[in-house]
Amino acid sequence: MAKYRVVVVGCGGMSNKWFDYLALRTDTEVVGLVDIFIDAAKSMAERRQLEVPVFSDLEEAIEVTKPNVICDVTIPDSHRQVAQTALAAGCHILGEKPMGASLEDARAILHAANQSSSRYTVMQNRRYNQQIRAVRDGIQRGMIGKVGAIHADFFIGAHFGGFRDAMANPLILDMAIHTFDQARFISGADPVSVFCHEFNMPGSWYQGNASAVCLFEMNDGSVFTYRGSWSSEGFNTSWESDWRVIGSLGTLRWDGTNPPVCQVVDETKPHAFIHEYKKIKLPMTWEGQEGHWGCLDEMFAAIDEDRPAETDSKDNIKSVAMVFGAIESAKTGKKVRIEY
Ligand SMILES: NC(=O)c1ccc[n+]([C@@H]2O[C@H](COP(=O)([O-])OP(=O)(O)OC[C@H]3O[C@@H](n4cnc5c(N)ncnc54)[C@H](O)[C@@H]3O)[C@@H](O)[C@H]2O)c1
Repeated sequence: MAKYRVVVVGCGGMSNKWFDYLALRTDTEVVGLVDIFIDAAKSMAERRQLEVPVFSDLEEAIEVTKPNVICDVTIPDSHRQVAQTALAAGCHILGEKPMGASLEDARAILHAANQSSSRYTVMQNRRYNQQIRAVRDGIQRGMIGKVGAIHADFFIGAHFGGFRDAMANPLILDMAIHTFDQARFISGADPVSVFCHEFNMPGSWYQGNASAVCLFEMNDGSVFTYRGSWSSEGFNTSWESDWRVIGSLGTLRWDGTNPPVCQVVDETKPHAFIHEYKKIKLPMTWEGQEGHWGCLDEMFAAIDEDRPAETDSKDNIKSVAMVFGAIESAKTGKKVRIEY
């Protein structure tokens, strides 16, 4: 019998990446599929040539197939119910972002995980990238000195069609979780407060506000600013965002596509009105898999080693709290203290 018996819940678009990954693990067997629309589960089983039972109810799937891992690739509104069912049955759960559709949902999931001996881990695939690992390592090693400010720009004219066009807070809720989590990952700092102004550009095809500017205070005294839009046309940034991190000795830049680079004061040259700088490339030593696959590798490794994964719910709640703090600030027009 395989070490990991997996039930996948939610057989929509994103689950394809998960099935691709699971198919390659030699210690893992998919033992059942669940979707509230049973036809979605049936056609996924057919497409993937998986001869496993399909269900519309997770509780029944667990009873019949006896899994030890549940992969939750459902919509955010379903994450709480899926997590509580899986954890109550003693299964580990690997779930898509965002952890919950509200901070209340995310807290309830964390509470259920804390009560259980199983773990709930969240997909934050944008941490798994050789370049962002080099950024984080460079900062942690003090290449630019003590960090005072992190700035991230995210501008992509994204024409999804479908539910995102109609949802409230599409940018902050559906996308900014990645950038906020990346900022915490890069800096090692956690959020204290946020001021956010959300708006819609002229000509925006989104009903909800698809643009935002946020200012976070972090617990190491630094600030993190975020400027983003899903309805700006021209000069798109990468999906990883375009970063400028400023420290006491210099600045690190990463556009999310090309290798990151630092410019620090050249102490071998005399100081001047504008100092001379030297350019330092960051060593790219990380050899893990990128994106979803890297995060899934870490999720399974954490179960193997009986430790919390990097994106365990205990950590991820802090990124989730940044999202809902920003939304509350945008609604009230006030600076919001971030609690998690
Ligand atoms: N990490 C990323 O980069 C990334 C990118 C896109 C989407 N996502 C996330 O992936 C998740 C799924 O997104 P998607 O694009 O595949 O959505 P989707 O709508 O294509 O698929 C979701 C599926 O879940 C099913 N479902 C909903 N509630 C259910 C429940 N309670 N039980 C069983 N099945 C249920 C739906 O019927 C549907 O088939 C979301 O949380 C989304 O935010 C992550």
